[in-house]
Amino acid sequence: MGSFAGRHIIDTADLSTSEIMELVELANRIQAMPREDANQLATGKILATLFWEPSTRTRLSFESAMFRLGGNVLGFSEAANSSVSKGETLADTIQTVALYSDIIAMRHPFEGSALAASTFSRVPIINGGDGAHLHPTQTLGDTYTLLCEKGRLEGLQVGFLGDLLFGRTVHTFVRLLARFGVKMHFFAPEGLNIPQYVRDSLIDLGADFVEREWTTSCIDGLDVLYVTRLQKERFFSEEEYLRKKNSYIINREALANAKDDLLILHPLPRNEEISTDVDKLPNAGYFRQAEFGLKMRMAIIAATLGVEV
Ligand code: CP
Repeated sequence: MGSFAGRHIIDTADLSTSEIMELVELANRIQAMPREDANQLATGKILATLFWEPSTRTRLSFESAMFRLGGNVLGFSEAANSSVSKGETLADTIQTVALYSDIIAMRHPFEGSALAASTFSRVPIINGGDGAHLHPTQTLGDTYTLLCEKGRLEGLQVGFLGDLLFGRTVHTFVRLLARFGVKMHFFAPEGLNIPQYVRDSLIDLGADFVEREWTTSCIDGLDVLYVTRLQKERFFSEEEYLRKKNSYIINREALANAKDDLLILHPLPRNEEISTDVDKLPNAGYFRQAEFGLKMRMAIIAATLGVEV
């Protein structure tokens, strides 16, 4: 894993396909270790979590991952709790926190912020989401989820349903899946289709994808349905959000034509787009997905710290 030591993780496009599989294998190796051994891997190391935007899964799973590796954590979960509220720049914040930590996981509302931060940091920067742009650790966790749940990527029929314009998890994930021979079906409410830059990347990668209007019959033949919420906070107006709200709902009735082993994923948080009556079905993989995300983040921390496992 030497190739990861000290590296920033800004975009999965920076990782080769073999490096992605190395991280998957590392996650498997760490999970196979006795917990007390895994708990020694990052002894004495410090993770900083700098979150300028709200988060439950990304921030807390990074922190849990570091604790489970035996390391320590510091950071802030909103800018108001840091000197950012006094006007400190991103550059100065990163240069300072890099003095206090061995690795920094960050989330910021501006696209490109993690890449900018990496130019000021002497420790690895891990992008935990930059605006509507990228979310590489979610994508690596989602890839790990598919491999653990389905045993393969190649040939899978994966549907993406929801706000594909602002959903950074989708923007990152589809460009990775394109490299692994996945057939993708995009279903978005009007005006929320995947951005042109993502479409162009998919075409450049020779991806197999179609964009279709959503009806519940579209579920027929899918191996995986990846649902996302409307990213209300990135909408231009409340009226626009209200017009599109509830334009797609996955409930038990909507699954009538689904394959028995359809896997339903969602990066969470959810609003109303997946009914809670689906949660008890074995097809509901979204909480297992959140746990796979934790396991992958343990691997990402260990790899970027250069820990031999
Ligand atoms: N999936 C995800 O990024 O969730 P949080 O916003 O809770 O971190």
